[in-house]
Amino acid sequence: MAKLTIEGNHPLSGEIKISGAKNSAVALLPAAVLAHEKSTIYNVPEISDIEYLIDIMNLLNCKVTHEGDALVVDTSNLQNKPIPEELSVQMRASYYFMGALLAKFGRVEMSFPGGCNIGARPIDIHIKGFEELGAHVEIIKNRYIITANKLVGKRIYFDFPSVGATINVMLAATGAYGTTIIENAATEPEIVNVASFLMNMGIEVRGAGTKRIEIVGTKETKEGIIEVFPDRIETGTFIIMGALIGDNLKIKGIIKEHNEALLMKLDEIGVKYKINNDVMTISKCEHLKATKIKTLVFPGFPTDLQQPITTLLTQAEGKSIVEETIYENRFKNTYDLNRMGAQTSILTLNKLEVIGPRKLVGTKVIATDLRGGASLLIAGLIAEGTTEIENSEYIQRGYSNLVTKLTKVGAVIKASE
Ligand code: EPU
Repeated sequence: MAKLTIEGNHPLSGEIKISGAKNSAVALLPAAVLAHEKSTIYNVPEISDIEYLIDIMNLLNCKVTHEGDALVVDTSNLQNKPIPEELSVQMRASYYFMGALLAKFGRVEMSFPGGCNIGARPIDIHIKGFEELGAHVEIIKNRYIITANKLVGKRIYFDFPSVGATINVMLAATGAYGTTIIENAATEPEIVNVASFLMNMGIEVRGAGTKRIEIVGTKETKEGIIEVFPDRIETGTFIIMGALIGDNLKIKGIIKEHNEALLMKLDEIGVKYKINNDVMTISKCEHLKATKIKTLVFPGFPTDLQQPITTLLTQAEGKSIVEETIYENRFKNTYDLNRMGAQTSILTLNKLEVIGPRKLVGTKVIATDLRGGASLLIAGLIAEGTTEIENSEYIQRGYSNLVTKLTKVGAVIKASE
């Protein structure tokens, strides 16, 4: 089990560069099996989820080579094989092999995907989408066996605009005859990044980033090439750190349109920052005001920043309310935040009250999931004394080179086993 030890109260200054988005990269790599023989994916974050996906690519006889921040994927000897549980459970994104292999081979066999324990996280919308395209789905002892003699494009309505289902059904639809239309699709930037990759391979995709996406199936693809967008959640996490303990901290690689909901909430809270092109400059802000946060699908406030911003709210004057509408179990970080001195209470299953400001004091805490871990990390950076975060491997899943980046801007933080 990995551990992070943080000595609190050291201001952050200098420049921090945002890495490629985890939730784009983990979809782009499985999508590479659709390209003709080779893909190059630039700006790939160095996170453990990517390493696990490479293990799956290797199992499928693909060669993946690191070239600087790029991954070069050679799929010329691609073979369809069952993906065993020890690989599929390592992360959520293993489910993207369902759509990609189904499109490529008309058959996929894999065990259940894993991912952070933040709610039930069913994949019924993905499965319904595959079935609507003509696939047959069987679940035998935790294994999905999805087969299709022929996939046929169709108009599909999603009951919920799921990010994963939108990408997965887009991938499957590339192998269908005719046009697939996804209605009520997710509009997150990651969808646009994946659609651009497919378009660069020569696949017709229209409307990505809107609620209606059209995909025209084809087996005639070219080599793939794409750059991963900057990670909007990593960006948000560093912005929150900057607002709490920055000293002219510069955050490079911001796409403002991807973080609009966060920025508008920070305006309400009283956080001051400057944005010049893709660089934000931010310093510790005094007199933060309490607010209400409600997580929603994009462009609403992202659920993945709910736990990090809760730490900021512990420093805001008054009573804040945080409402989580995407996952059922995403307040687990508050147990340890309270042990550090925060005053939060879970009002109902999805509503949290935060009373501030409260002084935080370092102690031993446990990361229970990726963003919950990030919330404790932020708390550790502003706390008096030393914070030890156990199970910090959860945090490394989503933040590329975290310790190096933070150390470079003045944090006193150490990783150990
Ligand atoms: N849902 C269903 N059925 C489905 C799919 C989703 O009921 O078939 C529900 C989920 O249970 C959840 C909600 O819909 O309550 C949202 O799920 P969605 O499918 O949109 O999320 P996801 O694809 O599982 C991705 C990210 C998450 C991020 C969400 C929302 C990846 C690998 N994961 O998950 O990232 O929270 O979108 O933006 O892309 C994280 O980075 O910490 C993280 C959890």
